[in-house]
Amino acid sequence: MENVIELINKVQDVFSTIGGNDSLDLPQIISVGSQSSGKSSVIENIVQRDFLPRGSGVVTRRPLVLQLVTLNGPEVQEYAEFLHIPNKKFYDFSEVRKEIEDDTARIAGTNKGISRQPIHLKIYSPKVLNLTMVDLPGLTKIPIGDQPTDIEKQTRNLIVDYISKPNSIILAVTPANADLVNSDSLKLARQVDPEGKRTIGVLTKLDLMDAGTNALDTLTGRAYPLKLGFIGLVNRSQQDILTNKPMTDAIQSERDFFLNHPSYRSIAHRCGTAYLSKQLNTILMNHIREKLPDIRSKLSSMIGQTQHELAQYGDMGLTGKMHRGSLILQLLTKFANDFVASIDGTLSDIST
Ligand code: GDP
Ligand code: NA
Ligand code: MG
Repeated sequence: MENVIELINKVQDVFSTIGGNDSLDLPQIISVGSQSSGKSSVIENIVQRDFLPRGSGVVTRRPLVLQLVTLNGPEVQEYAEFLHIPNKKFYDFSEVRKEIEDDTARIAGTNKGISRQPIHLKIYSPKVLNLTMVDLPGLTKIPIGDQPTDIEKQTRNLIVDYISKPNSIILAVTPANADLVNSDSLKLARQVDPEGKRTIGVLTKLDLMDAGTNALDTLTGRAYPLKLGFIGLVNRSQQDILTNKPMTDAIQSERDFFLNHPSYRSIAHRCGTAYLSKQLNTILMNHIREKLPDIRSKLSSMIGQTQHELAQYGDMGLTGKMHRGSLILQLLTKFANDFVASIDGTLSDIST
C-alpha cells in the first residue's frame, strides 16, 4: 500500500507540471479552524519539523499544499523542495519557513492580505508518513491591514473550496479552551460533510484549559458526534516557539502530559500527535483504496486524449511539440501500468 501512495504522489507531480493539478482530485488532509486555533502547529507536529510560520495573528495567508514523502534507503537526511524553485533542495528548515514567508509576501503583500494561490512544498524525510496536507488561512471575522471588507466570506469560500472535495479529509481544529458549540471548524465541516465521515476533530491547547475542567466528554465522543472521533493534542506554546523548543522535546512533553494527567491517563494511548498521524495514514490508505478504480479510469482517459492530440500532429512530422507529447504519453502509460500492478497487489493483499 505504501507504494500506491508513492505512485499517487508521482502522478500528482506529473499533473501539476503539465497543468490541471486537480484532474485526479486526490485525497488531501486539510487543517481547518479559526485563526490561531493551532492549525499550523498541528501540521508541524505531524511532520515533526519546524518549518511553518506560526504565531498569534494572521500568519498563514496562502494555502500551503504540503506533500510528505517517506525517505527510504541510504539517504536519511531530510530536505524540502518548492514547486516554484525546481531542483533546489532545502536542508535547513528555517530557510523553508523564510521562503514560505517571502513567497507569501510576493503574492499576498506584506500587510495581512490573503491570497488563494497555493504554495506547493514537498518534504522528504525518513520520519514522515506519506501524506498530502494543506495548511489554510484561518477563519477571520474582522478585516485588518490590506484585507478586503468581505475577508470573512473570502476565507470561508477558500476553505470550503478545499474541504468540499468529497475525498478530502478534514482536520477540524478547535482549541480546548474555547467553547465547542461555537467551533467554526466543526460548523464548516458539518456543512460539507454532514455525516461526519471524513472529519477528524482535533482538540488543541488541552494544556490551557481552566484548572478543574477537562475535555473528556469531547475526547470520548459524548459531547459531539463524529464518526472518526476527536483527538486531543498539546502543541508548542508561543513561549516554546520563542525559546526554540525542539520538536522531539515537544512530542515527549505532549506524551508526558497525557500519561500523567489524572483525567487523560486512561485514554493516553489515543491522544497526541503520534496517534493522530497513525489514524491519518490508515484513513488515507482506505480512502485511496476506494478511489483506485476511479483514478485508473481518469488516467486512461487522459492517455486517450493525449493519443488523440498526437494523432492530430501526425502530418506535421516530429516537431518539438510532438516530441514532448510523446514523452508525456510514455510517462502516463508507465504510470497507468504501475497502477494496474499495484491495484493487483493491493487486491491480493486484501484477500490474504
Ligand atoms: P493557526 O493560526 O491556527 O495556524 O495557529 P498557530 O499554529 O499559528 O498557533 C497559534 C498560537 O497558538 C501559537 O502561538 C502557538 O504556539 C499556540 N498554540 C497552538 N497550539 C497550542 C497548544 O496546544 N498549547 C499551547 N499552549 N499553545 C498552542
Ligand atoms: Na495564527
Ligand atoms: Mg496558521
